[in-house]
Amino acid sequence: MAYNLLKGKRGIIFGALNADSIAWKVAERAFEEGATFTLTNTSVALRMGNTAQLAEKCNAELVAADATNVEDLQNLFRKSMEALGGKVDFILHSIGMSPNVRKGRHYSDLDYNYLQKTLDVSAVSFHKLLQVARKMDAINEWGSVVALSYVAAQRTFYGYNDMADAKSLLESIGRSFGYIYGRERRVRINTISQSPTPTTAGGGVKGFDRLMDFSERMSPLGNASGDDCADYCITLFSDLTRRVTMQNLFHDGGFSSMGMSLRALIQYEKGLGCDCDCGDADPGVHRFD
Ligand SMILES: NC(=O)c1ccc[n+]([C@@H]2O[C@H](COP(=O)([O-])OP(=O)(O)OC[C@H]3O[C@@H](n4cnc5c(N)ncnc54)[C@H](O)[C@@H]3O)[C@@H](O)[C@H]2O)c1
Repeated sequence: MAYNLLKGKRGIIFGALNADSIAWKVAERAFEEGATFTLTNTSVALRMGNTAQLAEKCNAELVAADATNVEDLQNLFRKSMEALGGKVDFILHSIGMSPNVRKGRHYSDLDYNYLQKTLDVSAVSFHKLLQVARKMDAINEWGSVVALSYVAAQRTFYGYNDMADAKSLLESIGRSFGYIYGRERRVRINTISQSPTPTTAGGGVKGFDRLMDFSERMSPLGNASGDDCADYCITLFSDLTRRVTMQNLFHDGGFSSMGMSLRALIQYEKGLGCDCDCGDADPGVHRFD
């Protein structure tokens, strides 16, 4: 259902690779809500992925940019403002990549060149795009910038590796830049900490299927899907959330506030055989709730 929440708004969406990408779903929703925007990704991703199909569907111009390259970002903002006919109102940073994860390096045996790359692509790129946008005065007053994060920025998750460090830095950049950009130009900056979501980047995390299952059982509302995340992004780009800034907003069905759920406990005991005091032979049945 569309509410015209972004009617007349212009934006830039980073990171739509294929139909599973969270950015892809955000672009579809932004289009439904009346926004015009450019789509951007690396030239390799634009060759390998399906972003051109999305651009056609959303009537969006495609601009290649490596988000770690300041000149590419300057070119992206210039071309976007030309194509859209003015400054932008919203930006989605939906970018993540770790060569250490890709190459299976253990967190206690990181390759530091890879770590630099992880941090540059997944976190410092957020600073770079904000710095370029501010210097070019490319975002309208009350504009909204959102980046996607994960709860491993605050808590330790097996297999998330150096992406956890990147996400901590990403969230910190959101706060630090949010202060400057908010005070000077009323631009708001937030990160959304999203549930595990089956995408190309998500699938690279070790034990991802089990993580999805665990998280689903732990969250009272279940995992938030990519489509749910798109809806949340739209609210943050809209004028309905004008005083929300410098926040890391958990969008995870309640996962981040849980310690242990009954569903997760039951599943755990199925694996162990029931050794609690409930007196039931069947580990799936419990007298306590
Ligand atoms: N999938 C999940 O479980 C999950 C959960 C929480 C947060 N996130 C975050 O959501 C964001 C989007 O990831 P996704 O899950 O949609 O996966 P995805 O693989 O579809 O998207 C990642 C995107 O990053 C782009 N990218 C990589 N290097 C780049 C560079 N140098 N310049 C510009 N773009 C570059 C890729 O081309 C790709 O489009 C990431 O920040 C990810 O960490 C994902």
